[in-house]
Amino acid sequence: MYQIKIKGQKKLTGTIKVSGSKNSVVALIPASLLCDEEVTIANVPQISDVDALDEIMFYLGAKIEKKDDIMKINTSNIINKEIPKEVASKLRASYYFMGALLSKYKKVEMFFPGGCSIGARPINLHLEGFKALGATVIEKDNHFIIKAKELKGAKINLDIASVGATINLMLAATKAKGTTVIENAAKEPHIVNVATFLNNMGAKISGAGTSVIKIIGVDHLHSCFHEVVPDYIETGTFMILASAIGKSIRIENIIPEHVESLISKLSDMGGKIKIGVDYMIISAPKKLKPINVKTQVYPGFPTDLQQPFTILLTQANGKSIVNEGIWENRFQHLLEVEKMGANVAIEGTKAYIIGKTDLKGTIINATDLRAGAALIIAGLIAKGTTIINNGEYVMRGYENIEEKLKNLGADIHFIKIEE
Ligand code: EPU
Repeated sequence: MYQIKIKGQKKLTGTIKVSGSKNSVVALIPASLLCDEEVTIANVPQISDVDALDEIMFYLGAKIEKKDDIMKINTSNIINKEIPKEVASKLRASYYFMGALLSKYKKVEMFFPGGCSIGARPINLHLEGFKALGATVIEKDNHFIIKAKELKGAKINLDIASVGATINLMLAATKAKGTTVIENAAKEPHIVNVATFLNNMGAKISGAGTSVIKIIGVDHLHSCFHEVVPDYIETGTFMILASAIGKSIRIENIIPEHVESLISKLSDMGGKIKIGVDYMIISAPKKLKPINVKTQVYPGFPTDLQQPFTILLTQANGKSIVNEGIWENRFQHLLEVEKMGANVAIEGTKAYIIGKTDLKGTIINATDLRAGAALIIAGLIAKGTTIINNGEYVMRGYENIEEKLKNLGADIHFIKIEE
């Protein structure tokens, strides 16, 4: 386990650079399986979710070379064998091996775990989509065999604009015969990034970023160079941090358009934000106003920023209401921040936060990745020392977070604890 030790209330200032998107790269790596040649991906973040995917890729026979943020993947010697529980269960995004291997080999056999700490996380829409393309799905005790004689293009209308289902079905349809249309597709920036990668390899995908995506199947994908889009959730996390305790923090390597919903909420709260082409400069205002927010699919307010955002709301003067519209169990961090003195009440998928409260350092637990990021912000705001247990969650999705925050002046240490 990693413990994160933070001495709070340090003035934070300087420049912080955003890395490549976690939720994009976790799809790009399995997507590289569709190609028979070597692909090069740049701006790859060094995070433990990427390590977990590399392990599955090595297991299947891929060759991977890494230098700094550049990753070269050669999948010409892949053996399509069953992906065992030990490797598949390390991360949620292992579900992208379903779409990728089905597309290329017309068969995939793997374990896939059920729910995790933020909600039930079903994959019924992925499976229904594979079936619509002509596959059969055999599922027993989280073990899946999905296969097809041939995949044929189809019209698929998603009941929910699911990120995972949209990407998985794009992968599966890329090598299907004929045309697939995904209606009510998710529109997140990583959907566009994955579609661009597939198109760079020779796929024929149009409409990514809108709610209707059209995929004309192709037989062969070729080598390409591709860049991971900047992580808008990491961007948002730093924007929230800067609005809480920053002094002229410059956040670089970003696409401001991807965080418009957050810019709008921070502005309504009295935030001080200067927006450039690929950067922002943010300072904490003297006073923050309370606000109501509901998380929604992109371009709505992202659920992945809800947890960090609620920490900022503990610093606003008055009552804020947060409605979590995507995951039914994503307020566990509030029980931890309550131990630091926050005034919160949770009723189902709604949280009521009354501020402003002075947070005090104590021992708390991260329950998932974004909970960990939220608690880091709480620790940086708080008086005294905060110890966050299960800090390894944060390393799943935030590259080099310790160094990045130290460069702003934070007193933060990730300490490995032998268990
Ligand atoms: N859903 C279904 N059936 C499905 C798929 C989804 O009912 O087959 C429901 C879910 O239960 C949820 C909603 O649809 O209520 C949206 O789920 P979605 O499929 O969009 O989520 P996901 O693909 O499992 C990705 C990110 C999450 C992020 C969500 C929403 C990855 C690897 N994960 O999950 O990221 O919260 O989209 O934007 O891309 C994170 O980064 O911390 C994280 C949890």
